[in-house]
Amino acid sequence: MTKLHNQYEELKDRQLLNIRIIEAQEDERKRIAREIHDGPAQSMANVILKAELCEKLINKDVEKAKDELKNLKDIAHLSLKEVRKIIYDLRPSVLDDLGLIPAVSKYINDFTNDTGINVDFITLSEHKRLKPEIEITCFRVIQEALTNIRKHSKARNAVIRLEFGDRFISIIIKDNGIGFEKTSQDNKFGLLGMRERVQILNGKFEINSSPNEGTQIYISIPLGGDKCND
Ligand SMILES: Nc1ncnc2c1ncn2[C@@H]1O[C@H](COP(=O)(O)OP(=O)(O)OP(=O)(O)O)[C@@H](O)[C@H]1O
Ligand SMILES: [Mg+2]
Repeated sequence: MTKLHNQYEELKDRQLLNIRIIEAQEDERKRIAREIHDGPAQSMANVILKAELCEKLINKDVEKAKDELKNLKDIAHLSLKEVRKIIYDLRPSVLDDLGLIPAVSKYINDFTNDTGINVDFITLSEHKRLKPEIEITCFRVIQEALTNIRKHSKARNAVIRLEFGDRFISIIIKDNGIGFEKTSQDNKFGLLGMRERVQILNGKFEINSSPNEGTQIYISIPLGGDKCND
């Protein structure tokens, strides 16, 4: 009876998790659709307007037509940049081609350029290639942690420490920002998503934060798929 009850509970939990994964996928699609709509789709509409204007001007005022053509080129450049960013966010090709360290380095570089937040990236051992699902999980955790640092922390500095062990990979992401109370993270998807991704791979996820003391996230993922007991 108890065994049956446990199996039922387990099935229910798994079903809930599946529903949450589907919801998260749909949210992500919605977000991407919005990003394309607000970014490149709008820029392309602008390109068409500018092209029509150039058509009209070309026989009347060549100088003005040239100015508008330059505008048009700038808008096309911008939309190319936006499209590249969306492609990169979907799946950074450098992660598949070169692995975690080059992908994280590039991400941090862009992050610092965009936000002015300095990130020290410390790697404690030789780089190695891991299973794709481990690499993408580590990358997504770092991406979400840095997004949170940008959105919430007011930090000026952050540190990411990454260690490739023989049996597991561990990562610490730390900021010197305002921190937060445990209660404020209810019903948000970012931290929950990180924890779930890591736990699906039998890994360990810990977060420490308190007001005015910054935030620290620690993850450890076994490379062989066994449970992480470190
Ligand atoms: N580095 C941080 N510094 C300060 N507060 C943080 C930090 N990371 C998370 N938080 C707090 O924890 C809350 C939950 O974070 P979480 O990533 O789950 O949600 P979110 O960023 O608000 O929304 P979402 O990630 O779903 O877009 C945040 O709203 C914020 O209050
Ligand atoms: Mg978040």
